[in-house]
Amino acid sequence: MSQFDIIHKDAAGRIGKLTTPHGVVETPTVMPVINPNLQTIKPSEMRDFGAEILITNSYIIYRKDELREKALKDGLHALLDFDGPIMTDSGSFQLSVYGEVEVTNEMIIDFQQKIGTDIGVPLDIPTHPDVSYEKAKEDMDITIGRLKAARELVKDGMLLAGPVQGATYKDLREECARELSDVGFDVYPFGAVVPLMESYRYADLVDVIASAKKGLDPVAPVHLFGAGHPMMFALAVALGCDLFDSAAYALYAKDRRYITSRGTYHVDKLKYLPCSCPVCIAHTAEELKKAHNCTDLLARHNLYVTFEEMREVKQAIWEGNLLELVEQRCRSHPRMLEALKQMYTYSEWLEECDPSSKSTLFYCGPESSKRPEVLRFNKQLERLTIEGSVLIRAYPTKIDKEYDNVLMFKPPFGSYPQELAEVYPFNAEVVRTPDYESLETAYQNTIKLVELNPDATYTFLMKDTFEHPLVEKLAAMDNFTVVPPKSD
Ligand code: GUN
Ligand code: ZN
Repeated sequence: MSQFDIIHKDAAGRIGKLTTPHGVVETPTVMPVINPNLQTIKPSEMRDFGAEILITNSYIIYRKDELREKALKDGLHALLDFDGPIMTDSGSFQLSVYGEVEVTNEMIIDFQQKIGTDIGVPLDIPTHPDVSYEKAKEDMDITIGRLKAARELVKDGMLLAGPVQGATYKDLREECARELSDVGFDVYPFGAVVPLMESYRYADLVDVIASAKKGLDPVAPVHLFGAGHPMMFALAVALGCDLFDSAAYALYAKDRRYITSRGTYHVDKLKYLPCSCPVCIAHTAEELKKAHNCTDLLARHNLYVTFEEMREVKQAIWEGNLLELVEQRCRSHPRMLEALKQMYTYSEWLEECDPSSKSTLFYCGPESSKRPEVLRFNKQLERLTIEGSVLIRAYPTKIDKEYDNVLMFKPPFGSYPQELAEVYPFNAEVVRTPDYESLETAYQNTIKLVELNPDATYTFLMKDTFEHPLVEKLAAMDNFTVVPPKSD
């Protein structure tokens, strides 16, 4: 089994160290896709962009005599001229595009071992989204059979990936992940997600990732196959993905597209270059458009920003504010905003993964009301016992000592003991004019607290910015008094 050490966590994201035959890789990271036939940026240059591991396609090498012979004779690392870790794909992608390939699972596994791949991939079947349940299950069962056969063939040396399939069926993804987990692979790629990303179905992508993760051991390394746009790194990492691969840097460049962490520009529409990488510092937008080597320059810029965003994600994990970064990134496209909302439908699971204390929580918008920390407080209410007279207040007053208990009121949490005010997550930075959703959550939590402690009597000092229909519900409770905001 591979060695994967997790050294830091935030939400379901983590910074890890994956040990391969050609060295240790720090995750999360992106593997630039190397096309063995034509490659504008040489593998030997990839480290300068921040790459620690590359990925290429063993099937492309296998099919071309010249490449196959050199790879068999001198090894994959000599063929590419890169001495760090290299993962190889199996031809499954070609299988999904052309319907067939000229190799069997056994042949391509054997070939990957012979050329000295660090992480090999069996010939899984990438099932398209939205096929019938029966078809998805049938493909998945074939995939699982091939992966088991590959596991028998690979005993040591090369790490073996076990791609999780199951199309868009959440139960199949989870079942597939669980079965593969029982067999034991070194890396778990989540497969066939490219069509989802191409059609901006990020909310479905969230379902696929969360379902597959549920079937895996939480400490297993996960690769999101074909995901290379930096806009979605924060989201995917927060859901527990560790490895990404980018062909996007080169494919987008070929289409004259300039990647940023907020989205993509067509180079011909750029008046300015909003980036400070060596390419963008050395050129104006006009120069870039007209350059004879525009494709190469764009590929380089695209790769720089790809690794820049991954460092941003890692720094956020380190600081404990990955979810804030996710909330920001998910505002760059309406479909990403849907994905954010979908992610927080898994808050219960995220809450189980999330470290209980980190830096200050920043409220970034209505979706923050669904954060795992807020859900955790809702559950903790069951352990809170309150008796006697209770003052609930949102601001300091001189009447605290007239009450047996003082609770602070802060959306989106609700009412919590004032001793916790400086403790995570109650020390959150929140907006002083709370939105509807955060008030909704805060009042629902307060109603729950009152219902759990029905013998206490409550006085709530209201603020005019805290109006919400649920205040009426609280005011209607026998033991609850709402003191209206002072009007001056
Ligand atoms: N590349 C993109 N998606 C896939 C997948 O599902 N399986 C394999 N092997 N390669 C891929
Ligand atoms: Zn740039």
